[in-house]
Amino acid sequence: MSQSKILVLFAHPSLHRSEANAPIFQQACEFDFVTAVDLYAEYPRLNIDIDREQQRLLAHDIVIFQFPIYWYSTPAILKEWQDLVLEYGFAYGQDGNQLKGKTFLCAVTAGGSVEAYRQGGHNNFTVRELFRPLEQTAIMTGMHYLPPLTLFGSRTATDENRLPLHLQHWTTTLDMLHEGQIDIQRADSFITLNDYLTDKTMGIEKYHSKEVGPDNLEQEDNR
Ligand SMILES: Cc1cc2nc3c(=O)[nH]c(=O)nc-3n(C[C@H](O)[C@H](O)[C@H](O)COP(=O)(O)O)c2cc1C
Repeated sequence: MSQSKILVLFAHPSLHRSEANAPIFQQACEFDFVTAVDLYAEYPRLNIDIDREQQRLLAHDIVIFQFPIYWYSTPAILKEWQDLVLEYGFAYGQDGNQLKGKTFLCAVTAGGSVEAYRQGGHNNFTVRELFRPLEQTAIMTGMHYLPPLTLFGSRTATDENRLPLHLQHWTTTLDMLHEGQIDIQRADSFITLNDYLTDKTMGIEKYHSKEVGPDNLEQEDNR
């Protein structure tokens, strides 16, 4: 079975102040099947090299946007990246099928709690609903969309010791994607990839039971 190559495009405009995304990105850098790109470090003036970015896309099977949620969306550089890189004739339109069949995932951190991200909650909508433009962009470009892997309550995650479990889910996600072990159709029925991973019948537990036994995993508490 062929193993997938993963591209992580990371966007954080003030990485020196990051508690959550810095270690998440650091972990991604440790996998030899992951190309991890710090977009703000590479393009501090947002002067994105379109050719380089398109070549990167072509060289990978899985594309991940990693970012802290800013105003219910991505930091600015990721919007600029989409506007410039996803060109007509490359990503969509006539002969624009270069992304077809790839998989797309957002790996995000949210300041808000999981309770805030629902109808009637502080933010009214789920993260999946708020990321509809990204979901439709994936559909439009022929990519398989996965619901966002989300660390809620990101600003208290370190103090409340919730970061290690999230990092565990992140590394397992990267492993599973690499091995082609994520059931994309089934994952689509969940609001977040975390829900898919912790679902009893599939996801992380089943994946680990094949390798390290089912007792190694704690339950994630996103509150
Ligand atoms: C400009 C700005 C906008 C933000 N908007 C949101 C938001 O819409 N929803 C949310 O849950 N958190 C929001 N936050 C909080 C960030 O998501 C949070 O600080 C980040 O996930 C923490 O990750 P870090 O430790 O890597 O910086 C915002 C933060 C900033 C600075």
